[in-house]
Amino acid sequence: MSLNLDAPPTFAIDDTAPSLPVRMRRLRRTPALRALVRETRLHPAMLVAPLFVRPGSSVREPIASMPGQARLSPDLAVQEVTRLAELGVGGVILFGLPESKDALGSGASDDDGIVQDVFRRIRALDLPIVTIADTCLCEYTDHGHCGPLAPDGSVDNDAALGRLADVAVSQARAGADIVAPSAMIDGQVAAIRAALDAAGFKKTAIMAYAAKHASAFYGPFREAADSAPAFGDRQSYQMDPANGREALREMALDVAEGADILLVKPALPGLDLIAAARARFDLPIAAYQVSGEYAMLAAAAERGWLDGPRATTEAVTAIVRAGAGIVITYAAADLATWLRDER
Ligand code: PBG
Repeated sequence: MSLNLDAPPTFAIDDTAPSLPVRMRRLRRTPALRALVRETRLHPAMLVAPLFVRPGSSVREPIASMPGQARLSPDLAVQEVTRLAELGVGGVILFGLPESKDALGSGASDDDGIVQDVFRRIRALDLPIVTIADTCLCEYTDHGHCGPLAPDGSVDNDAALGRLADVAVSQARAGADIVAPSAMIDGQVAAIRAALDAAGFKKTAIMAYAAKHASAFYGPFREAADSAPAFGDRQSYQMDPANGREALREMALDVAEGADILLVKPALPGLDLIAAARARFDLPIAAYQVSGEYAMLAAAAERGWLDGPRATTEAVTAIVRAGAGIVITYAAADLATWLRDER
């Protein structure tokens, strides 16, 4: 075959068909053609916005490492949830900064606690948005770990189960549609399902943070939620980021324990797991674009090193292309606004 640089190469599609030039650019020619053949589309209804709620009234405390995000008092949090619902955002997930902390993280299961208060206020307004509770203890324990400690300083797995079950029941009682256990305690989904059912909350769904790596990308969150461990790290309960097969075992266990939705976290560093989860399980698959993923984009955009809206849209589109049908992202309101203005 002689090399012809004036036209694309020709390939035989099969033995009988004539050779055809392959011109992939035909369908990229105009915005309308590109829109017609686009494989992945974002919609506000698939997005979930995380919110940090703190005590007080009319308080908006910006989070330095997460430009555009703030800790909100309950009144402002409810205003924000109302705005998100108007934008068509699918859900909100609440994280609480309690008035005080103790060794057991008692505040997390307090019916008068900060997130419970906000869930009740949202429920009272009957907003068309799904309410999700992060079910964990790390924001409520004085030591910052995700469960009570054993005498040797490790997180006591089986003592954590009872605590997490109490937290989930309290969140359901306050009106959360979904509880999302994120502590990576063995057996947490089964314990929470049993406790919810026993307390009469059979309709409360569980979104399991099934594949949660011990990730450096949670750094800004720990500042935002004041939940950095006082000593040590979370590597004895969160997964080694090097492990993918183990992540699939975690997911299979959570399915067996009664999870309704599986969550992969962090999202962009876990695209392979999102794709594997989508192929293997028929549950809805969610992914969490975590604080560090957001902070990187926001910081680079602030410096003019990246086009923020384009890079954010590209990252979230990749997460959906990999197989996530639900994306938790700090950019949910921004994305919903850009999607609306695009039309
Ligand atoms: C609670 C929890 C964390 C995140 C979600 N739920 C912190 C952690 O596990 O250390 C991180 C979310 C983010 O970084 O945006 N355990």
